[in-house]
Amino acid sequence: MRITTCLVIATVLSVSSTIHAEFSGKHLRMELEKKTNKFWNTPERINFILSKYGIDGELDATSVVDLNSVFVDVEYLGTIGVGSPPQYFKMNLDTGSADIWIPTEPCDSCEGHKTFNPKDSSSFQPINKAWSLRYGDGSGVNGVTAGDTVRIGDASVANQTIGLATSLSADFVNDRYMDGIIGLAFPSLSFTGQKQSVVERLYEAGEIAEPVVGVFLGHIGDAGGKGEAIFGGVNPDHYTGDLKFIPVTVKKYWQVAFGGIEIGDRSIRNNAQAIIDTGTTLTILPPTLAKAFHDAIPGATFDNRYGWQLPCKPTTSLGNITFYLGGEAFPVPIADMIRERSSPEDPSLCFSGVAAANSDLIIMGDTFLRNYYSAYDYRQARIGLAPSKA
Ligand SMILES: *[C@@H]1O[C@H](CO)[C@@H](O)[C@H](O)[C@H]1NC(C)=O
Ligand SMILES: *[C@@H]1O[C@H](CO)[C@@H](O)[C@H](O)[C@H]1NC(C)=O
Repeated sequence: MRITTCLVIATVLSVSSTIHAEFSGKHLRMELEKKTNKFWNTPERINFILSKYGIDGELDATSVVDLNSVFVDVEYLGTIGVGSPPQYFKMNLDTGSADIWIPTEPCDSCEGHKTFNPKDSSSFQPINKAWSLRYGDGSGVNGVTAGDTVRIGDASVANQTIGLATSLSADFVNDRYMDGIIGLAFPSLSFTGQKQSVVERLYEAGEIAEPVVGVFLGHIGDAGGKGEAIFGGVNPDHYTGDLKFIPVTVKKYWQVAFGGIEIGDRSIRNNAQAIIDTGTTLTILPPTLAKAFHDAIPGATFDNRYGWQLPCKPTTSLGNITFYLGGEAFPVPIADMIRERSSPEDPSLCFSGVAAANSDLIIMGDTFLRNYYSAYDYRQARIGLAPSKA
């Protein structure tokens, strides 16, 4: 019986090299690639992110920023195998959705992506139910469902329900780095008719020791921003101290109780719900909290085209923003919320790692999770968080 299996995930950035990660004596390799011309703080992108949750962004969806200089965005990708013998796909690891989908043949709009060929898989089981994921901005994916063997590291599970995408909207076509999504939320959120998450199935098949996924998302500055997802346990090399466990309040997303934020000596209490989402780049707060956060930072500005921006090089030390989740305090250095340059005209302003949305729902995305190792425990419906370590 295997104890854990490791899916090495890497941020996509402006380095082209090969990395090696080690866990339980296994070596897995994955390439780092350059990714440019895509960024997330614009009204358009925020709406796209939020449309996954069926809520609208605060900003005007029709304002669009044209971008032609180089901006680097971050997305955490890992490779999984589908079929027998396995066909490999680069997947976005997404705790904010619950389906596994890959482009398939024939596909009328999958240019630049690896496509799955069912004819080359001896373990393929057609189900042929139509499925689709639609986003509020008109983008989406659709296709048919099937079952096949899914391999993560060297663990595998037979007849896993997956979505075969026969059509991708422009957003996905343009993302040349990601072929599909591996969703790790609970099956009640599934659009492909998954009855059980792939993690629980791996566990029941005796492939992994615990129905737990441990996720480390590296900072870009640390070893090129690589990350790691461990299926079947956690990797203590990537956090300090003990995991603080907080209960999931609704088993759909990885949703927890949110109690407010603290910045300097300001404490803003707010009883809400937060979703822990590796598939969202930013941390998304209701407008009042987003404003309170940015008001505490000298030089922060809001613009209808760019959203919230922060000075790239703050002149004073900024301290922490503390998030209250499940009654526990999780401080994050505000300096870590400064992202890449936002405007070609003004090199002094950078995107903020916090965006506002017209919703009570809070999304703790990668700008939070780069500071906290996260462990998703399906059996006990809880999330463990501890300060992360590269
Ligand atoms: C595969 O899974 C599907 C959906 O859960 C099920 O209907 C089908 O009977 C399964 N096939 C096999 C061979 O187990
Ligand atoms: C920010 O949080 C860290 C980690 O808990 C802590 O060590 C540090 O003292 C905090 N800084 C401030 C200014 O409160």
